[in-house]
Amino acid sequence: MTKVLRSVVTGVGGYLPDKVVTNQDLAMFVDTSDEWIRERTGIHQRHKADDDQAASDLAVIAAQRALEAAGRTPDDVDLIIVATTTPDLTFPATAALVQRKLGCPIGIAFDVQAVCSGFVYALSVADGFVARGRSKCALVIGSETMTRLMDWNDRGTCVLFGDGAGAVVLEPQDGEGAVSDRGLLGFALRADGTKQDLLFVDGGPGTTGTRGFLRMQGNQVFRHAVVNISEAIHAAAEDAGVPVASVDWFIPHQANQRILEGVARRVGIDEHKVISTVAQHANTSAASIPLALDQGVKDGRVKPGQLLLLEAMGGGLTWGACVLRL
Ligand code: UT7
Repeated sequence: MTKVLRSVVTGVGGYLPDKVVTNQDLAMFVDTSDEWIRERTGIHQRHKADDDQAASDLAVIAAQRALEAAGRTPDDVDLIIVATTTPDLTFPATAALVQRKLGCPIGIAFDVQAVCSGFVYALSVADGFVARGRSKCALVIGSETMTRLMDWNDRGTCVLFGDGAGAVVLEPQDGEGAVSDRGLLGFALRADGTKQDLLFVDGGPGTTGTRGFLRMQGNQVFRHAVVNISEAIHAAAEDAGVPVASVDWFIPHQANQRILEGVARRVGIDEHKVISTVAQHANTSAASIPLALDQGVKDGRVKPGQLLLLEAMGGGLTWGACVLRL
């Protein structure tokens, strides 16, 4: 078989801010209830960053943990990609701030903005460097402070989101060009800008000059999510050359337990293969997949050599899926 270079995940790390906000906490000042939130979303609680913690601060801790797991140090890192929709500043990129805070040498650093799909998009972008031998040690990070975008008077959105960061280290390794190779094996990325009005932030530096608030037509997004994600999953599996049913773990974006289960059912994945953190983390946008991966690795379910399926959907609309062997 032909030798190919693969981008292999060699370390995973996550970070959740200490402060926990329960559904009951929210029900004290929003017209909602613990029962409604649990039944409609599966969420029990979410983490909230302190006022002095920005996306780069969460990202740095997740990255340090991922580097430690990979047996690498900041000195080894030559590429940093941060998927975020809540950057510290309009510019510089959060990735450049992470580079400085970690003390990495001069290299490549930039952000990817695809909202909740950002981590899947960022993995694909990083693969373009690592699998071409242009990066020897890449950090791909999803980091979000989504609670900063909440309108706390909008019960349809403010109960859904939380803050956190997850990171992976990607390194090049020789593969055989076979599905037994470790590394990123297949992708499907999608966007449909005509659906912008279903999920967006109603402000920004180039329009209102304000940060804006997240707005969502939840039930419309829900419908699109189940149908579109299923198509992308099949396309990513085909790109990787594996049947969907052969994946060991399904690690989806954690927006809503009903979406996770609906998608798994639709593509024929056993419910026991779904890693779900939605109850504890809520929707942490681009951070949710690496945080769920970190959880699965930490609790011993997800092991090296296993086949993983990641998927996400978010504002844009954007969506996508990735198949990788850990
Ligand atoms: O990560 C980006 C992708 N985002 C998603 O994937 C989110 C997708 N959407 C969803 O998860 C769900 O649509 C929601 C959880 C947002 C909403 O669930 P739903 O079952 O689609 O509810 P709905 O929006 O159709 O609203 C049903 C009712 C409404 O009341 P009426 O009009 O029937 O009287 C809402 O006002 O539920 C009400 N409602 C609430 N009630 C209590 C909406 N939010 C709340 C709330 N507490 N927090």
